[in-house]
Amino acid sequence: MDGKKLAGEKAVEYVKEGMILGLGTGSTVYWSLLKLAEMVKKGLDIKGVPTSQNTEKLAIELGIPLVSLSSINQVDLTIDGADEVNPNFELIKGGGGALLREKMVASISQSFIIVVDETKYVTNLGEFPLPVEIVPFSWELTSKQIGALGCEPKLRSKNNTPFITDNGNYILDCYFEKIQDASKLNATLNMIPGVVENGLFVHLADTIVIGKRNGSVDILFK
Ligand code: 5RP
Repeated sequence: MDGKKLAGEKAVEYVKEGMILGLGTGSTVYWSLLKLAEMVKKGLDIKGVPTSQNTEKLAIELGIPLVSLSSINQVDLTIDGADEVNPNFELIKGGGGALLREKMVASISQSFIIVVDETKYVTNLGEFPLPVEIVPFSWELTSKQIGALGCEPKLRSKNNTPFITDNGNYILDCYFEKIQDASKLNATLNMIPGVVENGLFVHLADTIVIGKRNGSVDILFK
């Protein structure tokens, strides 16, 4: 069974009439969007706030009505994927490069549901390289400062040129051996000039939906 599909589809059960929904990014949320589109076609009245240009394009293709983040103060529920999740509901996100908009939307969400397959549920964060969005100006300096925290930062590239985020920035994928204190590292990284945002999501998720190979789904509540 496809754990991503199971989790993505299950999370949509929490959607209610009239909600403003944060629409996450990635191949797990893809399944949520398909399901949501079916519900919209059947008459469900919701509005979505996309967390990336890719999700915006997909939502438009699927006929999901959208509203811009700048025109609202609060999101009722956000469904998003993650690259790693630990038992404290701390996350690494940004494998798809959308971490800044994802964190902005999550920060004003009343409820934040994470959808993952079982491979993403880990005891310690850090095996997946932590994505950090940085401004392109003198990125090498920012990279050295981040490296001094005890990781090996690698500039993300696509077709042999730097990967550019939806916000016109670069991403450093930072190889930490193990992230002991996600809260502290989150704050420390965001204090470095040149860092726009990092992929540690702390105190944001309240529900984790885990799709498993055996066809079952675990739902964890904070
Ligand atoms: C994008 C993200 C994604 O949610 C994360 O990378 C998980 O993606 P997928 O569901 O495709 O495995 O944070 O910035």
